[in-house]
Amino acid sequence: MGHRTTGDYPWSVAADTELRELAPPAFTHAVPALLQVYEAAMRPPPEQLPGRASIMNGHAYYPGFRSVVAVRGGEPVGFAYAFHGYRGQWWHDTVVEGLRADGRARQARRYLSDPLEIAEVHVHPDAQNQGVGRSMLYALCRGRPERTAVLSTRSGPSAARHLYRSCGFTEVLEDFSFPGSPDQPFSIMAARLPLTGSGGRRPPGRSVGWPWTGSR
Ligand SMILES: CC(C)(COP(=O)(O)OP(=O)(O)OC[C@H]1O[C@@H](n2cnc3c(N)ncnc32)[C@H](O)[C@@H]1OP(=O)(O)O)[C@@H](O)C(=O)NCCC(=O)NCCS
Repeated sequence: MGHRTTGDYPWSVAADTELRELAPPAFTHAVPALLQVYEAAMRPPPEQLPGRASIMNGHAYYPGFRSVVAVRGGEPVGFAYAFHGYRGQWWHDTVVEGLRADGRARQARRYLSDPLEIAEVHVHPDAQNQGVGRSMLYALCRGRPERTAVLSTRSGPSAARHLYRSCGFTEVLEDFSFPGSPDQPFSIMAARLPLTGSGGRRPPGRSVGWPWTGSR
């Protein structure tokens, strides 16, 4: 796979697995291979895959895009990506509106005024439960200037929710249905950056006036 190597990459996750950061052109080139990981991890209806590909290709050029791919034996076994959330983006506006409609305008301001939006985190079943997902999540969030990270995950207990909670994410909106998917409730989760357990270093560019109280 083509990839951009930064000062931090490749990172070694395990003896046979490393993380690489893909810049947008390399990421879009890799989308077909990444979709195979997505398909194995999420088991979506096959007809959804073309739409997913075009969403991922579009996300690659959102501001602040960062992607991390876990590679084993030259093949991707996991991927995750995120970007800076802005008003005008579908997910961002939908979640802000959902929080406001639920009487949580304060949480909307707190969590979505300067967010890193984590769009996807997936690990192939053959590589799950080996620390790959956690490493990718930390790599995505490391050194980011945003105040918070936000994401949606399916409602109910899951490995994903366990992972996010253990990194400091909490539920800010439960059983939220995105337009067009009324039967698939999601939880919106958010965390202050840097993530719990990631070393606690404050990245340059972070507002010193961030009024975080610690009470969520
Ligand atoms: C969720 C997911 C990304 C986690 O990645 P992973 O590489 O398997 O997770 P890790 O090995 O880094 O483990 C993270 C934590 O989850 C736990 N975990 C992982 N797989 C688990 C499983 N099948 N059952 C229970 N816990 C599990 C681990 O024990 C670990 O917790 P611990 O450190 O307290 O022991 C991965 O399981 C996955 O791709 N699942 C299917 C797709 C999905 O749900 N994506 C997220 C969409 S929001």
